[in-house]
Amino acid sequence: MASEITYAEVRFKNELKSSGTNPDSPAAPKENTTPHKSNLSFPKLLLGSLLILALLLAISFFVAFIIFFKKYSQLLEEKKYTISMKNPIYTNLECVKTNWTMEGKVWSCCPKNWKSFSSSCYFISTEAKSWNESQENCSRMGSHLVVINSKEEQDFITQNMDIYAAYYVGLSDPEGQGHWQWVDQTPYNQSATFWHAGEPSYGGEHCVILNYREKRTSWGWNDCICNIRQRLVCEMMKIYL
Ligand SMILES: *[C@@H]1O[C@H](CO)[C@@H](O)[C@H](O)[C@H]1NC(C)=O
Ligand SMILES: *[C@@H]1O[C@H](CO)[C@@H](O)[C@H](O)[C@H]1NC(C)=O
Ligand SMILES: *[C@@H]1O[C@H](CO)[C@@H](O)[C@H](O)[C@H]1NC(C)=O
Ligand SMILES: *[C@@H]1O[C@H](CO)[C@@H](O)[C@H](O)[C@H]1NC(C)=O
Repeated sequence: MASEITYAEVRFKNELKSSGTNPDSPAAPKENTTPHKSNLSFPKLLLGSLLILALLLAISFFVAFIIFFKKYSQLLEEKKYTISMKNPIYTNLECVKTNWTMEGKVWSCCPKNWKSFSSSCYFISTEAKSWNESQENCSRMGSHLVVINSKEEQDFITQNMDIYAAYYVGLSDPEGQGHWQWVDQTPYNQSATFWHAGEPSYGGEHCVILNYREKRTSWGWNDCICNIRQRLVCEMMKIYL
C-alpha cells in the first residue's frame, strides 16, 4: 500500500474522479447501472474498449510477425536460396548459408544450374566445341576450363557426366613436348594426374579430355586433337555474399 506504484495508481484515480461530474461513479461504474450514470460513462467505456482492441491487435500483429520471422529464417537456413542480382554475367545465384563468416559474408553462391563442390562451382555442358572455343566459352562466363586438383574433385564432376561423352579439361601441351599446362597456371603435378593407362600418347594431341573407359570402368584423362568438338567443364570460385 505504501509503495510508489500504489501511490501512482491512487493519483490516477483521483484525477479521473476530479474530471467526472459524479464523484461516486468512477470507482465502480458497472455496479451502478442507472441510465443516467451509464450514459455519462459511455465515452469512457468506448475509449477503454477501443484501447483494449488496439492493444489486442498490436499483440496479435507482434506474435504473427515473430512466427513469420522464425519460419522465414528457418527457410533461409535449411534451403537453397535464390538471389537475383544485377550482375553483368549472372542474374540468378543459388546460395547456401555458411556456418562461418568471411569478413561478414555468410552466403556461398554458385550461378543457377552450376554444381557446387568445395570452394568451386562447375558448369558441365551438353554442347560440343573445340578446346579453344571451350576455353573462350568458359571465359565469357567468368570462369575457365576445369582444373582438376584432386581425385575427390574429379569424382564429383564425373558423377554429373554422361559416360558416353568426353569433356575438355583445362590442360594442354601447346608445343607437344609434354609440357602440360593448366589454364589457371596451377603447376602440373605428375603425382596428381589421372591419365588412362597408356596415355598421354602424343602424336599431335595437344589437349586433354576426361572420358570413361568401360574396360577399366573408370574415368580418366586422354590427350586428343584440339579441334575435335567435345563437351566441356567450366570451373569458377564460389561467390561469397
Ligand atoms: C560447420 O561446418 C563444418 C564443415 O564445414 C561442420 O563439420 C560443422 O559441424 C559445422 N558446424 C555447425 C555448428 O553446423
Ligand atoms: C557457353 O556454352 C553453353 C552451352 O555449352 C551455352 O549455354 C552458353 O550460352 C555459352 N556461353 C557463352 C558466353 O557463349
Ligand atoms: C587456339 O588459340 C590459340 C591462341 O589463342 C592459337 O594459338 C591456337 O592455334 C589455337 N588452336 C587451335 C587448335 O585453334
Ligand atoms: C603433388 O601431388 C601429391 C599427391 O596429391 C602431393 O602429395 C604433393 O604435395 C603435390 N606436390 C605439389 C608440388 O603440389
